[in-house]
Amino acid sequence: MILVAPSLLAADYGRLHQQIRMVEDAKADWLHFDIMDGHFVPNLSYGADLVRQMRPVSTLFFDVHLMVEEPLNFLPMFEHCGADQITVHYEACSNLPTVIDCIRQQHIKAGVSIKPDTPVKLLNPYLDSIDNILIMTVEPGFGGQNFMPETLTKIKETAQLIGDRAITLEVDGGINPQTAELCFENGADVFVAGNAIFKAQNPAEIIRQLHQLGEK
Ligand code: DX5
Ligand code: ZN
Repeated sequence: MILVAPSLLAADYGRLHQQIRMVEDAKADWLHFDIMDGHFVPNLSYGADLVRQMRPVSTLFFDVHLMVEEPLNFLPMFEHCGADQITVHYEACSNLPTVIDCIRQQHIKAGVSIKPDTPVKLLNPYLDSIDNILIMTVEPGFGGQNFMPETLTKIKETAQLIGDRAITLEVDGGINPQTAELCFENGADVFVAGNAIFKAQNPAEIIRQLHQLGEK
């Protein structure tokens, strides 16, 4: 099943409620929150308070992508913020098993993400304790970058690694209906898209096209 996850990073922040309603009406599945600390990535975004404030606005699955160094220090702030899943970066954790446990203790789903240069095989030991793998298809930190085609082999490798486990395979960065098709062919099933959706003339049509990949 294809899941579409609009990334709020590209939304019009002055009209956040309407933007969220718009993607919800267009049958998006997840809402993707990019949390950046200015250390793990050279950019700042927003924190747990935004997730908490948007919770009453929407029934969408809240997909939190933590691009922060040592997420263990930040996880207490995210407790009860309304996130349905928190995905952390492999590269940012000095003790990944503890981080995964800490997310699970919040009774939400746990994901691990890797940057384009990080080998997929490093995720092997965690496959039985995670719900989501996020393959970055650009260097994390900024929206609006071009999809890196060399990540396609990593997506395929990840799909093989997942096998028949109930783990979603999410892709993020430069995703539009064209690049999503390539990712889908290689085994991805969750598509994060920021600019392709929020900056489109007809965002609902882009969401429809992304969903349609699964029907071809
Ligand atoms: C980048 C973020 C992405 C970003 C994607 O570091 O993780 O979620 O919002 O934006 P687009 O789809 O515009 O590349
Ligand atoms: Zn993201």
